[in-house]
This record gives sequence, C-alpha cells and structure tokens, in this order.
Amino acid sequence: MTDRYAVIGHPISHSKSPQIHAAFAQATGQDLSYTAIEAPLDGFAATVQAFRHEGGRGANVTLPFKMQACELATHPSEAARLAGAANALKFEGERVYAENFDGIGLVNDIQRNLGHALQGKRVLLLGAGGATRGALLPIAQQGPAVLAVVNRTADKAHALGRDFAAHAMLQTGGYDDLEGETFDVVINATSAGLAGEALPLPAGLFASGALAYDMVYGKGLTPFLRQAQAAGVTALADGVGMLVEQAAEAFLWWRGVRPATREVIARLSVPLV
Ligand code: ATR
Repeated sequence: MTDRYAVIGHPISHSKSPQIHAAFAQATGQDLSYTAIEAPLDGFAATVQAFRHEGGRGANVTLPFKMQACELATHPSEAARLAGAANALKFEGERVYAENFDGIGLVNDIQRNLGHALQGKRVLLLGAGGATRGALLPIAQQGPAVLAVVNRTADKAHALGRDFAAHAMLQTGGYDDLEGETFDVVINATSAGLAGEALPLPAGLFASGALAYDMVYGKGLTPFLRQAQAAGVTALADGVGMLVEQAAEAFLWWRGVRPATREVIARLSVPLV
C-alpha cells in the first residue's frame, strides 16, 4: 500500500515540499504519496488527527503551525523542544514524534553544498525569531569559535541566549554591538527583506572570503544579499538549499533512505541577480 505523507500549513499552495518529496520518492524507489493540506487557522490539531485516521504516516508542518506541531507531539526531539517549534511529525500508533530539521538543513547546505565549514569560524545570525531558534543548536554543534545573535529588539536576543545557555555560549545584542566585529558566516534569519527593508549592518562586518546566507529563497538577490554584495562578498546563497536539505532529513527519518539533493536544489534555484 502506498504510504501517505503531507505538508500542512496555511496558506499552502506555494509549498515546494510536494515537488521535492515526489522527486526524492522517484529517485529512491519509495512507494509514497505526498500532498499539500491547508488547515484552517483554528484547526491544525483536528487536521493532523484526520490525516492520521486516514492512514497518514508523517507530515511536514509549515507556517503558522510549527509551534503547535511541537505542542501536540507526544515525543518532541530536543531540537524541537529548544526551538519550541517542529517542522516534521511522524505517527507511530498513539505516538507522535516531532523534529525540527530546519537547522540541520541549514548546516548541511552551508557545509556540504556551499563548502563553508563552521568549525572554528565566527558565525553571526541576524534576528531572534523562530527561524533563529530552529537553527541555533545544529550550528552550535559544529563548534564555531563565536556564535553571535543580534536582533532589532536586543532583549529578545539576550532571552534567547539564556534559553540556550546549557547548549551554547552565545554572544547576543543589538545591531549597534556589531561595530568593529567581523564574521566568516553571516545568516539572515529576519523577515526584514520580505518588507523590502535593509538591515543596519556596519562596514567591515564581513571577513575576507565570508559567506552571506539569506534563509529566504526564490526571491533572487534580497536586500540583505545586495548589502553583502555591495560590501564585496562573493559567496552569496539563498535558502533553497536549506529547504531541500531539511526535506532530505525528514525523508531519511521517515523512510530510512537518504535521497540525493543536488539536482533538486539546482532545479528549484533561481539566479541571484
Ligand atoms: P520567524 O519565525 O520567521 O523568525 P518572527 O518570529 O516574527 O519570524 O521573527 C522575525 C525576526 O525578524 C525578528 O527577529 C524581528 O526582529 P524583532 O524581534 O526586533 O521584531 C526581525 N525583523 C523583522 N523586521 C525587521 C526589520 N525591519 N529590521 C530588523 N529586524 C527585523
């Protein structure tokens, strides 16, 4: 029997996950279906329940339900609990396992696909919302020399530093604190660019050979990537690789098979111009 999976969100029509998982299933010869389900804003848990009753084996979860996905799990992973959010669920009998693969997807994209090791490097995350929370633990596990988080509202970055204190020594602050600092990897996890807004980044922020990574994908050169380019950065990346890599982690978790990602990333990439 064909095993059923789905991505659940609201809205969901834009989701690339059905396309990605269909490509993975075909390449690995796995017999599964993967659909997109739009849950009502007040009906996430009921939608998950209905999908389970119909024989669903697992689901990806996207905005705005990632926090609820973590809450309804009977067995959330440490990464999901620390992030307070999950992007993948697995159903086994009465058990609901929850994972957050966004961070490992980001790390795999940066290290394996883009060739920038994080160990011993100075790494900066811009923003202190859900996207940063999801990414912090896997980045910290790579052993960067410095892991810094700055946010427009500095107190939110400090709070995040306290929440992760048992797992990582974070440098936290506001954009003013970046004056005179230099980083090898700078990751934009804010939603500023979606509103067309640039970030107050000081001159000299990017080290020679630095990577500028925007978690947003499919928008070409975002305001952040433009800022980085203007500062002389040549290694620029958007979040398409992170999207495909987190999907590959979920696929492995559900099916026990790791799909190749390079071709799928290439197919979904838009030029950074
Ligand atoms: P997500 O779950 O995608 O991280 P979020 O939790 O709403 O979304 O967080 C959005 C992040 O973008 C926050 O860090 C936010 O900063 P504040 O906490 O100060 O609001 C950041 N952000 C949004 N617009 C911004 C802007 N114009 N300049 C700087 N940071 C911005």
